[in-house]
Amino acid sequence: MPSINQNLRAWDNDWGHDGSKWSLAWGSDASMWRHTVHARIGRFLPCANLLEIGPGRGRLTEFLLPLCESYLGVDLAYTCVKACRARFPSAKHARFTTTSGTELFAAGSASIDFAVSWESLVHADQSVLSSYLSELARVLRPGASAFLHHSNLGAFIGKDGELEVENPHWRDPGVSAESVAELCKQHGLHVNVQECLQWAVPYYSDCFTLLRRPKDPTEPTPGIRRISHIDMNGEMRVARQVTEGYWFTNR
Ligand SMILES: C[S@@+](CC[C@H](N)C(=O)[O-])C[C@H]1O[C@@H](n2cnc3c(N)ncnc32)[C@H](O)[C@@H]1O
Repeated sequence: MPSINQNLRAWDNDWGHDGSKWSLAWGSDASMWRHTVHARIGRFLPCANLLEIGPGRGRLTEFLLPLCESYLGVDLAYTCVKACRARFPSAKHARFTTTSGTELFAAGSASIDFAVSWESLVHADQSVLSSYLSELARVLRPGASAFLHHSNLGAFIGKDGELEVENPHWRDPGVSAESVAELCKQHGLHVNVQECLQWAVPYYSDCFTLLRRPKDPTEPTPGIRRISHIDMNGEMRVARQVTEGYWFTNR
């Protein structure tokens, strides 16, 4: 399973690109944002104080920055923090900083109105997720939500303890929708939605969890809305076709 040190070795260097090549399945970063990310989190935006965990080199950050009054990006890799500072020099409301990979010390308690993590915590194991969920229970304003993209490969561990599917995108094999829902419960967070999805594979390798810090501990726990019928590979394909078909003309 990818440890924090392995993540550091993988990401704390010059990638030779800014992450855009991972958006090619959608046609572009903007298309990924419009068709997939904004489609899911748009109702929480704009917001006052936004937190992004693992911004990398700012692939999603570009679209988040205009939609908040204050932005905090925390990444394990200092080279990513430096790359974001260099990429968004005029974003005076943005702060980019490092984390040890488990904490959100840069964020004050109950200070965050919405948090998002995209294609970063998929490489995090159960202990890292547990630490971040504990931190989110502290930093989210009561009533605020977070959208986390994480692994679901843990759902494919066989009776012999071995992974029964391929793991081409370095997902953590121990994390699943179910294990994250359980961690949320342990940390007093409510899960509103869990969407299991295919990430360029034919099985549900990944999961999006939309969670919320309840306004107070007596708030009734909602049932989890589970979505697993969306064809994510098809969603990417349609996004690319629409983008290539329409988003090329001058206005
Ligand atoms: C595949 S890149 C994705 C970056 C960005 N979200 C994007 O979509 O382009 C993974 C990022 O997650 C960061 N990362 C990995 N583990 C992390 C952790 N435990 N805490 C914070 N960032 C982490 C890496 O440093 C890297 O920037």
